[in-house]
Amino acid sequence: MIEKYKTEVEEVLKSYFDINKYNLPKNFPHEIINSMAYTTLLGGKRLRAIFCLEACKIFSGDYKAALPVACAYEMLHAQSLIHDDLPSMDNDDLRRGKPSNHKVYGEAIAILAGDALISFGAQIILESNIKNKEKVLKEYLKSAGVFGIVGGQTLDILSEGKKVDIETLQTIHKYKTAALFKSALLSGALVGGASDEQLEAIEKFSEKFGLAFQICDDILDVISSSEVMGKTIGKDKEEQKATYVTLFGLEEAKLKLVKTIDESYDILKKNNIYSDVFNKILNLITDKIKG
Ligand code: IPE
Ligand code: IPE
Ligand code: MG
Ligand code: MG
Ligand code: MG
Repeated sequence: MIEKYKTEVEEVLKSYFDINKYNLPKNFPHEIINSMAYTTLLGGKRLRAIFCLEACKIFSGDYKAALPVACAYEMLHAQSLIHDDLPSMDNDDLRRGKPSNHKVYGEAIAILAGDALISFGAQIILESNIKNKEKVLKEYLKSAGVFGIVGGQTLDILSEGKKVDIETLQTIHKYKTAALFKSALLSGALVGGASDEQLEAIEKFSEKFGLAFQICDDILDVISSSEVMGKTIGKDKEEQKATYVTLFGLEEAKLKLVKTIDESYDILKKNNIYSDVFNKILNLITDKIKG
């Protein structure tokens, strides 16, 4: 199912960047659409989209209605990556195995492409024919903005070179990373017509998973390779980032990851949410740090 979701998302996502669809004047700058499409279509695991579709399927039996929303979240995610890589942010030249957006299109276009991806995603949600559209759009905008990625990235940047406490680190991870997983999952569940109680369970799961995901990313920045990750390894140390590894050391960070993944499973179990897809993703995260 994961592969099926991925293939369908790739296909729909690609269609949004078909320049011929938009009746643009001859002199419209295709460069900006190419830049937006470049990072978005380069691939990646598509985890936010997969979560969104699966959450919809769990509560409605079908997932197709959530496809535009899943694509919108991949656009927002791509935006967060483009801006995260900028010289003034993490200064990373490699993303998804290729030169970062600003390396190909220049900083100005990369900034504009990120801006445009956020609003394009919102537009796609607004133009879709989904259940709970207003609530979904609110989730999307919240995670994109100051009470989501922007807030988290701000604290991440302000914490560079400092020894922060665990509460601060958890706030960074909650906002810069978990917020997007949360809104993608909640949005899928909303499109699927989940009850308030079910939404609450999905929210708890997503916050736990989001934290686990970023702990794993922090670990992989130390133990993985640029070839596998498609981004520069050792960047966190270079940029003096506050991470689980810098705060606790590698082994303790690994233990904390396993515990956080276990807690994610427990939330699903306690709330009678059963999903092969969720389980596979959780397993994938712990497998990554083994060996
Ligand atoms: C990278 O996310 C950004 C983080 C939150 C660590 P992913 O690891 O999901 O990136 P892609 O989508 O697979 O490229
Ligand atoms: C991920 O933080 C958060 C966002 C991209 C919003 P990182 O800076 O650790 O992500 P990578 O490692 O560059 O993918
Ligand atoms: Mg960063
Ligand atoms: Mg980064
Ligand atoms: Mg990282």
